[in-house]
Amino acid sequence: MPNIAFVNGKWMPLAAARVSVEDRGFQFGDGVYELIRVYNGQPFHLRPHLARLAESARQIGISSTHSIKQLERIALAGCLRSGYRSAKIYIQVTRGAAARIHHFPMQVKPTLVMTFRRLTPIAPEVRARGVSAMTSVDHRWDHCNIKSLNLLPNVMAREEAIRAGHAETLFIREGLVTEGAGSNVFAVIGGTVVTPPEGAAVLSGITREVVISVGRKRGIEVTESDIPLDQLRGADEIFLTGTTIEVLPVVWLDGKKVANGRPGPITKQLYTAFLEEIAIKNPTSSPPSQRGENP
Ligand code: PDD
Repeated sequence: MPNIAFVNGKWMPLAAARVSVEDRGFQFGDGVYELIRVYNGQPFHLRPHLARLAESARQIGISSTHSIKQLERIALAGCLRSGYRSAKIYIQVTRGAAARIHHFPMQVKPTLVMTFRRLTPIAPEVRARGVSAMTSVDHRWDHCNIKSLNLLPNVMAREEAIRAGHAETLFIREGLVTEGAGSNVFAVIGGTVVTPPEGAAVLSGITREVVISVGRKRGIEVTESDIPLDQLRGADEIFLTGTTIEVLPVVWLDGKKVANGRPGPITKQLYTAFLEEIAIKNPTSSPPSQRGENP
């Protein structure tokens, strides 16, 4: 099976998937999204992702035509149809297609798109080496906890990073680190793992939550508190979390080594703990009906 899509109730190959040019997602970025990782043929932490999607939609006044239960069924069906062992599910809900006016149109029906793509994980050598990041002013709005389609500042920041040879941009707002262009940020400072608290400047990452929880379960001290930029610069370890990158060490920041320039022990420990969590939640020995092989 090639990559597939579910568009407003119909399954099709991804290459054949279409929405209207009048869709408000296309015209205004008027919608929300989720990205969910599939391990061993099953979505990882699907429920929290769908709950976050529902909350994002609620916050921008989109009343989804699908319940969380229905979305869950579609996501699981897509995993079986695609048959991929390692994949990413992208879900997008927009306010729908209507003649272009800024305010919410009357009687518009939300658009639901779900795509299932095979995913090639980050190369182990990249993870073992760690990546480089740069910092940049956070020009985004005050509702970064909404996973909205409006990603232009993130797109610009990531592009700037890539052009300068970095993997990610870390946003700085009023002297404090908020998050990456597409990731949450953690630092190890004085033996404690610190990550900025949830709020208007940070997406409440699902991976962030998993890492905090598995870390604490293993007796690692994790606090959610502000990280001033100068503290980040002096951190013993820095790492990023996100659905596709999982736990990714940052070993260069703005052209300077983070500590000795190698992934640190706590980052490695948390990544191992994260992999264990995947093995528990998405075991390889799932029933055959739930399993899919990469074609
Ligand atoms: N982005 N912060 C931002 C701004 C993000 O875009 C993401 C993820 C995260 C991490 O969230 P999670 O652990 O739930 O993936 C934090 C996704 C992967 C994307 O836009 O492709």
